[in-house]
Amino acid sequence: MRRVGIFISGGGSNMVALLDEMAKSGSPAAPALVLSNDANAGGLAKAAARGVATAAIDHRPFGKDRPAFEAEIQKALEAHGVDLVCLAGFMRILTPGFVDAWTGRMLNIHPSLLPLFTGLHTHQRAIDAGCAVHGCTVHEVIPELDAGPILGQAVVPVKAGDDADSLAARVLVQEHRLYPMALTRFAAGNRDRFALGLAGA
Ligand code: GAR
Repeated sequence: MRRVGIFISGGGSNMVALLDEMAKSGSPAAPALVLSNDANAGGLAKAAARGVATAAIDHRPFGKDRPAFEAEIQKALEAHGVDLVCLAGFMRILTPGFVDAWTGRMLNIHPSLLPLFTGLHTHQRAIDAGCAVHGCTVHEVIPELDAGPILGQAVVPVKAGDDADSLAARVLVQEHRLYPMALTRFAAGNRDRFALGLAGA
């Protein structure tokens, strides 16, 4: 059984989808900790309401000293016996040292069809580029931002009249399908790529 730590910075809708998935009988993964860099992240209360341990480690007191911030995170992960990390809307960049320590044991969801549109504002950039499709990606985390072996992707159409919000909402529905599937497969030792076809057309 993999013991999963989920990192969030905000509302945590993907985190909730992962918790719901792990609550299913036969899941190869169990939630051990939900951790946020923001004590006010709405997702922390949702995790606590589901009986999952939570931790808030504010990055701000550490200033530019990211390793010191990450050392606190590492302590929390060890205290809760975490052996697999899922980044789920965690909006802090992790140092290569931390990422290397978790290589092969850390997943991320990104709201684009990687390798397109790494970084921020992915939905607006897909619209501006004139893409007919857009989507989301779950990948293994490596030190390079929004890169690393792709585990799964889900595709949605970009519709006439879409703005960043309407497109983000269409993608988010698919994030909530994609990430739980990717986690269950990965926790069971299956790293084969998979794709969820055009949804919401
Ligand atoms: C999600 O759309 C996720 O893909 C994105 O943040 C949102 C978090 O929503 N992640 C990134 O942009 C990472 N760079 P949630 O808190 O409701 O899961």
